[in-house]
Amino acid sequence: MKPVIFIPCDAAALAVGADKVASAIAETLAARGLYAEIVRNGSRGLHWLEPMVEVRTDHGRVAYGPVKPSDVESLFDAGFLDGAEHPLSLGKTRDLPFLKKQTRLTFARCGVTDPLSVSDYRRYKGLRGLENAIAMQGADIVQVVTDSGLRGRGGAGFPTGIKWDTVRKAAGAQKYVVCNADEGDSGTFADRMIMEGDPFVLIEGMAIAGLATGATKGYIYTRSEYPHAIATMRKAIEVARREGILGPSVLGSGHAFDMEMRVGAGAYVCGEETSMLNSLEGKRGVVRAKPPVPALEGLFGCPTVVNNVLSLASIPLILDRGADYYRDFGIGKSRGTMPIQLAGNIKHGGLFETSFGITLNELIYDIGGGTASGRPVKAVQVGGPLGAYFPTSHFDIPFDYEAFTANNGLIGHAGIVVFDDTADMMKQARFAFEFCALESCGKCTPCRIGAVRGAEVIDKIARGASVSEQTALLDDLCNTMRLGSLCALGGFTPYPVSSALDHFPEDFGPRPQSQTQPAEAAE
Ligand SMILES: Cc1cc2nc3c(=O)[nH]c(=O)nc-3n(C[C@H](O)[C@H](O)[C@H](O)COP(=O)(O)O)c2cc1C
Ligand code: SF4
Repeated sequence: MKPVIFIPCDAAALAVGADKVASAIAETLAARGLYAEIVRNGSRGLHWLEPMVEVRTDHGRVAYGPVKPSDVESLFDAGFLDGAEHPLSLGKTRDLPFLKKQTRLTFARCGVTDPLSVSDYRRYKGLRGLENAIAMQGADIVQVVTDSGLRGRGGAGFPTGIKWDTVRKAAGAQKYVVCNADEGDSGTFADRMIMEGDPFVLIEGMAIAGLATGATKGYIYTRSEYPHAIATMRKAIEVARREGILGPSVLGSGHAFDMEMRVGAGAYVCGEETSMLNSLEGKRGVVRAKPPVPALEGLFGCPTVVNNVLSLASIPLILDRGADYYRDFGIGKSRGTMPIQLAGNIKHGGLFETSFGITLNELIYDIGGGTASGRPVKAVQVGGPLGAYFPTSHFDIPFDYEAFTANNGLIGHAGIVVFDDTADMMKQARFAFEFCALESCGKCTPCRIGAVRGAEVIDKIARGASVSEQTALLDDLCNTMRLGSLCALGGFTPYPVSSALDHFPEDFGPRPQSQTQPAEAAE
């Protein structure tokens, strides 16, 4: 078998030197008169091992990592082209415990294939879902999605089939599919990994959404901080057009669907769907009042499917394997799998896709290996900057939309940020207000003013000024923001604040003068 070396081109691997490793490997091959094909794959999501280099051998792929350019000579000396032992050997990739424990449905190809090769994509079961969809009526495609139990992976967990059905039934000469790839949540990177590691799965998912709803044009909206994802997606769209996957007749079906990439400047609120639509239309990213919902009046006033990358990337498998196959994973009303992102102060950070139902205990300790600092875990924040902080006493909560809601939290985009016992939860609560004040679109008063006042109240607590009155005021302010805000940016900021206050009351109190911050910082 011809040797193949896989070196990730994912931004996380590039950030720790993957390009330099690729150059060193190419130069060493040339200098030694050896031949091997180099494939720049996506990441497998074991971030602490990046750049993780793999070699395809007769007995499967063998992994090495983290590889530095200075390791390359010794890898060749050891015979790594044949999968030989080396101090950086990790063994067969498929036997790596972090991968073995996963159920990879959405990420099945990520890190496995060449992201821009359609033949590789087909070899690993790509385009089967689209081919099935082409043979079906729109209403039947929507029914399969509804039956699969898929809920939006962008944050709100809204059933995808219901949204598609609304767009399908809406009157309109022009309909759109908009993929929300803004990915602003702290500790999240799954959307980026899909765009860089398996872009065709997103294209296929969007094309199926187009067939199902009658939309003929798609947009992927992402942020300028994702230059590699933007470049890969643009190239993949070009390839898909050339291969007839996109264009006037998708795979010869007679249905038209085409798409393009749009890049925003990176405002958190532009991930909120109506604000994103404004930004796509070239306007300021201000939230629109609902109703009308985007499914009825979305982009340029037309019926629009707005879905997260992960929701759309789950669709091809559902159309390929059927609704029951997907639905059989998960618990309760949380069906299928969730690509969970482990970040912050964690030893084994990365992408871990698994069925719903796994506990935080399993995720943080068994899979994540505890904190990177080696200190005890104090809290995790789940669901981005608007998510609750959970103490270790809550780590038996199953990963499930309803269970998280019942515990005053949210799954969001499934980013988990870990904090050790040095974290100051009053500072984290202040940060939540500060973030909201900076990112608020300014349309409604509870958020625009409330976030600034919230930071001021915490500063007063830190200065020791009437702590119990200020704490009661904080509670009141959180209620006002929760109930009175137009969108979840203002409406959910109370989650991190109240959870910090409820679970870590000992952190809220007077601080030495040098540690207190002026309230103006948030304005
Ligand atoms: C402040 C704010 C930021 C959001 N950011 C994102 C985001 O970055 N990506 C995303 O898919 N959804 C985000 N959402 C949720 C979207 O409004 C919307 O629910 C989602 O894109 C719908 O797709 P889904 O049903 O597939 O989840 C955000 C919501 C709010 C309130
Ligand atoms: S809650 Fe904040 S971000 Fe949302 S509409 Fe109101 S001001 Fe804008």
